[in-house]
Amino acid sequence: MAKRAFITGITGQDGSYLTELLLAKGYEVHGLVRRASTINRGRIDHIDSPDLHLHYGDLTDGVSLVNLIHQVEPHEVYNLGAQSHVKVSFEMPEYTASTDGTGALRLLEAIRAAGLDCRYYQASTSEMFGASPPPQHERTAFYPRSPYGAAKLYAHWVTVNYREAYDLFAVSGILFNHESPRRGESFLTRKVTLGVAAIVLGARDSLHLGNLDAVRDWGYAPEYVEGMWRMLQHDEPDDYVLATGEGRTVRQFVRAAFAHAGLDWEQYVTYDEQYERPTEVDALIGDASKAREVLGWKAETNADRLAELMVDADIEQLSRLLKA
Ligand code: NAP
Ligand code: GDD
Repeated sequence: MAKRAFITGITGQDGSYLTELLLAKGYEVHGLVRRASTINRGRIDHIDSPDLHLHYGDLTDGVSLVNLIHQVEPHEVYNLGAQSHVKVSFEMPEYTASTDGTGALRLLEAIRAAGLDCRYYQASTSEMFGASPPPQHERTAFYPRSPYGAAKLYAHWVTVNYREAYDLFAVSGILFNHESPRRGESFLTRKVTLGVAAIVLGARDSLHLGNLDAVRDWGYAPEYVEGMWRMLQHDEPDDYVLATGEGRTVRQFVRAAFAHAGLDWEQYVTYDEQYERPTEVDALIGDASKAREVLGWKAETNADRLAELMVDADIEQLSRLLKA
């Protein structure tokens, strides 16, 4: 019998790659989608499989989660759904807390109420480390610097608590930034690579950015969803950092992306204060030794290669759009 997986956030960057991975492994995949006035499934539209099933629901709506978990009876649950933009979390703190924080609690309670012997993955984040200096690992102190980071920290601890209190196989993946051509357009890497593509193709002549000094550890999303899956296949539930171990400033990423297209970034990039956050996370560089030793997981793609592959993908996609 095929294993059944239930994924929240299936329409997001990670949800789409995880769906492809699980279908390729023979899983039956059930995904939670939000009702919207227009259909928003661009990242999974290309997947044509009788083993993919979508269900309406929302992490802020506990009844929908209880009903779906009861109905699907999943063997594995991946909680990837979130209001995932740090800057937006300052503008929508309560909604972010409800989706990203209490949402995890609602899902865990739905699993507990159904009495299921299933495995649970929580999408935790390096943002929980916030002001704690790098390198950050599983034993580094948490010090979130945004409503997003604080909400995710609640979800992280409630996952640990359900593991200890109810013996649930619940794991928390503390993932550092991971990107791809499917990354949301308002996150730094994608904003930059889309901007480079538009400049190369003559569709615009400048790009406005905020803080260029922040350091991030950027990896490649398809490799990170493989790490999520490995966490749920291990004998014991535990928490793991996934990261490349290499830090880059925003400025370095911008320079690499423009250079790949033969451009000097300083001629195009201007500063815009509106992209600054009330409190910034200055530096995130992860130490993923535990995942390497216990799960055999290692990031293969670094930020320079990522900048190249994302610029190439955006130039190709935008030229097709401009020709259409
Ligand atoms: P993403 O592209 O922003 O996708 C977020 C997903 O969550 C989308 O499918 C979205 O649905 C869904 N969602 C939003 N609000 C929801 C709600 N109230 N109820 C149900 N679903 C909701 O995020 P991602 O980059 O794939 O990240 C996946 C998860 O990992 C997130 O929890 C994120 O916080 C976490 N994380 C990401 C990174 C990273 O660098 N990418 C690093 C660490 C942790 P719509 O399509 O309808 O908006
Ligand atoms: N988005 C954005 N837009 N960020 C900018 C800009 C801009 O115009 N200019 C500078 N930055 C800086 C931000 O201040 C931040 O220091 C860095 O670029 C990266 O910003 P984002 O790409 O928005 O990502 P993030 O690091 O805040 O959060 C992402 O990674 C987390 C893991 O560490 C998100 O994916 C979170 O969901 C995830 O948990």
